Amino acid sequence: MKKVLGLVISERRLGNTEILLKEIIKNVPDPCSRELIRLTELTLKSCKGCYQCLIPGNSCSINDDFLFLREHIKDADALIIGLPVYFLGPHAYFKLLMDRLLCAGYFAEHTRGKPCVLVIPFGMRGWEGYARAAALTLPALLKMKLIDCWLVHAALPGESVLNEVNAGYAGQLGANLFNSPAGQWGKLDCPRCGSDLLRFLPGGLVECPICSGRGKIVARDGDLLPDFTLEPSTHRFSEAGLEEHFKGWLVGMKERFKTQKDILKKVQQPYKEYDWWVRPPGQKNDK
Ligand SMILES: Cc1cc2nc3c(=O)[nH]c(=O)nc-3n(C[C@H](O)[C@H](O)[C@H](O)COP(=O)(O)O)c2cc1C
Repeated sequence: MKKVLGLVISERRLGNTEILLKEIIKNVPDPCSRELIRLTELTLKSCKGCYQCLIPGNSCSINDDFLFLREHIKDADALIIGLPVYFLGPHAYFKLLMDRLLCAGYFAEHTRGKPCVLVIPFGMRGWEGYARAAALTLPALLKMKLIDCWLVHAALPGESVLNEVNAGYAGQLGANLFNSPAGQWGKLDCPRCGSDLLRFLPGGLVECPICSGRGKIVARDGDLLPDFTLEPSTHRFSEAGLEEHFKGWLVGMKERFKTQKDILKKVQQPYKEYDWWVRPPGQKNDK
């Protein structure tokens, strides 16, 4: 039996994120096991940058609900992730989850090729910001098959499904979850990761800040469009790019840390005495 997991990354009860995810998941054909996790209900602490999880077999040492969440992600056959736009970006718990997935280099073997749908409610047209581009990083790092990254205009809780087109599309996403091909991007999007952001570089080049794919702006069909076929097709989310980052650069950096540890300690030492921290009453000094 297929297992579908919905990650609701919004605190608002019966808000657009929750309702859209439920609408998608209820339409997944049976037999199907359905699970929802509201990330804001979990205790999720910030990644502490110890890099222990880069070593195969090592778990995250932070004592919170992350391992519970990671096990459910690992066991799911498909992920539906809902995150509203908050101040032009993804809800902060989405970023928290991303940061805790530094183990993606190994963990992606559990999620590779599984369907993923991103649902992004936003309240005001023109205020979508960079949320879509940011959200695309999660399925890319986990090597999932992204079916759609769906931005849904809806401000009031539940408003998204007042629009029958939205309700119908959510139903379709659910009904076809396991037999949909990977989503297609628009002609203005990065053809590799689907991001709608571009960074201008000298020499008429553009770079996708999300996947690092490069292209040129060319005149085509009476329009100016990014053409990514004019540059070599290396990008950070390619199989080789991810391998190099997680198992090459990051692991290498950890090794470099070991060799430089004593020098770094010396550099850090004088800053220890500037102990200007203020903390809420009752909170312990972390020294
Ligand atoms: C703190 C906060 C910041 C928000 N920032 C934006 C924003 O930058 N752009 C936007 O379009 N909507 C913004 N919204 C509106 C939400 O994205 C919108 O209401 C969405 O439907 C909420 O989803 P939910 O009902 O699942 O919580 C913001 C809402 C809150 C509470």
